[in-house]
Amino acid sequence: MSVSRRADAVPPFIVMDVMREAAEKEARNESVIHLEVGQPSTPAPSGALEAAREALSRDRLGYVDALGIPKLRERIARHYRERYGVEVPAERVIVTTGSSNGFLLAFLGAFDAGARVAMAAPGYPPYRNILSALGLTPVDLITTEAERYQPTVARLEKAGALDGVIVASPSNPTGTMVTRTELAALYEHCRARGLTLISDEIYHGLTFGERATSAVEIGDDAIVVNSFSKYFSMTGWRIGWLVVPQALVRPIERLAQNLMISTPTISQYAALGAFDCTDELEGHVRRYRANRDLLMAGLPKAGLDRLTVATGAFYTYADISHLTNDSVDFCRRMLREAGVATTPGVDFDPQRGRGTLRISFAGSTAEMEEAVQRIANWVR
Ligand SMILES: Cc1ncc(COP(=O)(O)O)c(C=O)c1O
Repeated sequence: MSVSRRADAVPPFIVMDVMREAAEKEARNESVIHLEVGQPSTPAPSGALEAAREALSRDRLGYVDALGIPKLRERIARHYRERYGVEVPAERVIVTTGSSNGFLLAFLGAFDAGARVAMAAPGYPPYRNILSALGLTPVDLITTEAERYQPTVARLEKAGALDGVIVASPSNPTGTMVTRTELAALYEHCRARGLTLISDEIYHGLTFGERATSAVEIGDDAIVVNSFSKYFSMTGWRIGWLVVPQALVRPIERLAQNLMISTPTISQYAALGAFDCTDELEGHVRRYRANRDLLMAGLPKAGLDRLTVATGAFYTYADISHLTNDSVDFCRRMLREAGVATTPGVDFDPQRGRGTLRISFAGSTAEMEEAVQRIANWVR
């Protein structure tokens, strides 16, 4: 038997190792505050659960259209009209098995083997790893705090020949965003040079000031990736969507038919119900905002004073290079000795991640208070 070079080369997601160690500690009845998690601590909204129950009792739940059930594609198109004031034809909306599957379809649909695709470092690790596994070449843009760790046209101009760019706003791991003007500049740069712009909008809705701009507001040439995982609090339902240029609909349909057949039917019905739960979901956003404010006030006093100002998502990224040059060891010791789990930056930024860590504030406000206390005692 053989193991492919492409599979062998995919690095692990180190946050998973932290989560395993945290679980072992809890199994020994030791308390852990989870600042490593990348998901809401809440279940799917009540409307989604109700719709799922109803579908279970009424529907056979067989295969459905590879592009998604028409009602859900139409409902997502309506979401763009209501939230962003922009008309998106439902035929350009493709339902996917989480945005993770959306990336696979988007990359396969837009790029040939060997294509060079740029993204910000620090950034979400699977972009790089999915691209590599598909025989594409990830190109890290080494971004700075002054750039809010986002890609810029100036960086793209220095990155050599490119076929595509990924932008994530708000970003994981920094919680920072691009402005509408910056996104428009990236869009124009890509359009003029024939690059494919992929806009990861999974944290849209989770913003604490101005709402995030969608690439579809700027033009029809970008691929938008989104999901029910974060704002809609439905990670385990594995459901997301793409909005693609018209020319990509049929190629991605053919890929989806062969790779997936269809996205889980029950999750599609549940997602339809999730749109009617604005009050419940906005309550979560208010809690994330309160958690962010609490950490921004408390962590500097606890010794972690170099933090990104998260205007969205539920993360802040801490520069800890004045405390350690080994973030993996730092996180491990903080977990063992203080009972606070965080994610070392090496997952997000292979070059500089030994001096950074990601803190998630997706938990409860009481947990954030306790975490600040524990970190302060430990750093001291
Ligand atoms: C930036 C970003 N994009 C995509 C995903 C994948 O999410 P899902 O496959 O659940 O939609 C995540 C998950 O953490 C993420 O942080």
